[in-house]
Amino acid sequence: MQGKVCWKSPSNLAIIKYWGKFGRQLPRNPSISFTLDAAHSLTEVEYASKPDIDKCKVSFHFDGTANQAFGDRVERFINDISDLAPWMQGKSLIINSSNSFPHSSGIASSASGLSAMALCICSIGQRSDSKLNDKTYFLNYASTLARLGSGSASRSVYPYLAVWGETEHVKDSSNEHAIAFDKVDPIFKTYHDDILIVSRTEKSVSSTAGHALMDNNVYADSRYQQAKDRLKELLICLQNGNLDKFGTIAEDEALSLHALMMCSDPSYILMEAESLNIIQKIRAYRKETGLPLHFSLDAGPNIHLLYPDQIKDQVKPFIESELIPHCVDGLVIEDKVGEGPVLISHEY
Ligand code: DP6
Repeated sequence: MQGKVCWKSPSNLAIIKYWGKFGRQLPRNPSISFTLDAAHSLTEVEYASKPDIDKCKVSFHFDGTANQAFGDRVERFINDISDLAPWMQGKSLIINSSNSFPHSSGIASSASGLSAMALCICSIGQRSDSKLNDKTYFLNYASTLARLGSGSASRSVYPYLAVWGETEHVKDSSNEHAIAFDKVDPIFKTYHDDILIVSRTEKSVSSTAGHALMDNNVYADSRYQQAKDRLKELLICLQNGNLDKFGTIAEDEALSLHALMMCSDPSYILMEAESLNIIQKIRAYRKETGLPLHFSLDAGPNIHLLYPDQIKDQVKPFIESELIPHCVDGLVIEDKVGEGPVLISHEY
């Protein structure tokens, strides 16, 4: 069996953060995210069955250049999920992948990269498992595989918003895979997420190491409860369009995430001085104007600026004159809530 499949898959921004895991990559608390649009990975997998190999063999090219380290990681991932994607065994793969955002922008590519990879694996699987021809089953399965590659990647396979992790407040929610979340006021589907690049340097502590430090963080239990409580409140804001409350929760979550890093053992800090300068300016601007311009942070120093499309012209001059000067080389990635992954082609 041979063929070539290509998927484009976006990154996502968690509003309620996944931070802490157990077992086979299962989350300690439910999380919810915006699926992004501009920040995405494009991954093409050329596959062929080889009678002389029993596992899966990967040759990986990133931006047209062979990358052994990425190839080894993907090969390990595919072999680790052989119980769930047995059709990948005995296959040789040539993978070509690229990201829409600059490699040195400090944006994590695991969510877009591993979701794109998981979607390619499921497309290949459609040729041996007919259940994968059902759209919902396909996406849940791709989300499960993506989760096993990187937890946050599980949420990237759905349009607009996704929930990952069991919660009594969202029907059909699961620790195994994310699900699409659509019970939202339409204004949230217009949200912008301008990513203000504060530093290009690779972060000193990876997310995976950060999750592990939650295991003996003295605040761990109260944190997991806090995330559950905030999710419940956030779901109400999403449904009734309460932008101020939504933004308050988003900011509190971002700051809690970084506070957890600061009180890990060993402690560490991923925010930079410019991250704080930007945060203070956003808060002062909001106080002065009353406009719903809020921020979030991932596990890094970059600031995600969140606002609905209807205020874009009002906030633009402030962003340009007051915030962009704090960015490294004035770099901003103008992103927004997006429609999820796209199958580019599948030839066989
Ligand atoms: C802060 O999904 O990158 O972005 O599962 O170890 O690959 P692994 O970690 P990862 O962690 C993401 C953490 C976060 C919050 C979030 O996206 O929910």
